[in-house]
Amino acid sequence: MNFKTIEWKGDRVRLLDQRRLPAEVCYLDCRGPSSVARAIQSMAVRGAPAIGVAASFGIALAAQTLKTHKREVFLRKIKEVCQQMRQTRPTAVNLFWAVNRMERLLDRTRFFSIEEIKAKFENEALRIYKEDLQTNRKIGENGKNLIKDGDGVLTHCNAGGLATAGFGTALGVIQAAWKNGRRFHVFVDETRPLLQGARLTAWELVQEKIPATVLTDNMAGWLMKNRKINLVIVGADRIARNGDTANKIGTYGLAILAKYHGVPFYVAAPTSTVDLSLPSGGEIPIEERSAEEVTHLRGKRITPKGIEAYNPAFDVTPHSLIHGIITEKGIVRKPFKKHLKKMKNKDS
Ligand code: MRU
Repeated sequence: MNFKTIEWKGDRVRLLDQRRLPAEVCYLDCRGPSSVARAIQSMAVRGAPAIGVAASFGIALAAQTLKTHKREVFLRKIKEVCQQMRQTRPTAVNLFWAVNRMERLLDRTRFFSIEEIKAKFENEALRIYKEDLQTNRKIGENGKNLIKDGDGVLTHCNAGGLATAGFGTALGVIQAAWKNGRRFHVFVDETRPLLQGARLTAWELVQEKIPATVLTDNMAGWLMKNRKINLVIVGADRIARNGDTANKIGTYGLAILAKYHGVPFYVAAPTSTVDLSLPSGGEIPIEERSAEEVTHLRGKRITPKGIEAYNPAFDVTPHSLIHGIITEKGIVRKPFKKHLKKMKNKDS
């Protein structure tokens, strides 16, 4: 991986601007928490783990840049920034997990000096970043043997280094298998409307020199029928207690196709993506984005004026369609309700 998705620079957060990839590789320097929040909302940075890391850096940045010497004002402002981060995107639980972790630190350090709190915040955000990198490496190791020589592996959206602090989850498994000497072919769903597959996953795979083919979102069934795809691995934005999994819109359809054709369907995600507070996927909030993302492509209208467009950013795949969930602590199998709880509470 020869790019950095997110970088802490002490007085700013540097983000690889994913809206402009692959045409341009350019960076966005966020010098305050509002600019980080805007970057998350506008998807300059995206992907469940990556937005969690970015939000924690945004909170650390707020601590660094606040000018007040009054402890009460300082604490109140940081709490406000935590709330601002929570309002950026609703589905990926990693965002809330990271913000809650920073807020808990604030509660533990509320009687420290402001300078001490600033240092603690910087360390905690860096820890979240480094942990994500390690976690993804472990997910890759735990999942790599699922891929066999000659396989056709389908992935949807982008669950690579760009969606995380680095290495990726679903793409991390693919990379780990490739580095382990397995030889196979990757199929990449383009992932309308924002083309995370065609633009981002394809960009990462080309750099890693892993053979891959981009598909439009309506091709997977036909390729499964013709035995070109025999494994599906996707990422996740939130996994409910029973294993129901929210991921990029289109994932649910793929899981149904996979079931019909007898193709194993795996989810790769850190245990921070598991939300034990939600009994099932029906309670996962699904982000609705602007219709313009559907009616326009690269700023140009592709539909007639006057037509309506629907744009849910995620869907929920029922646990019955999922073979296993690859985490940093091992592969979780059915019954998910029992095993996810055990895995979440287990030390890695
Ligand atoms: O809307 P996005 O691009 O943030 O959606 C990203 C996905 O759905 C990913 O598959 C998911 O976050 C897993 S990333 C490791």
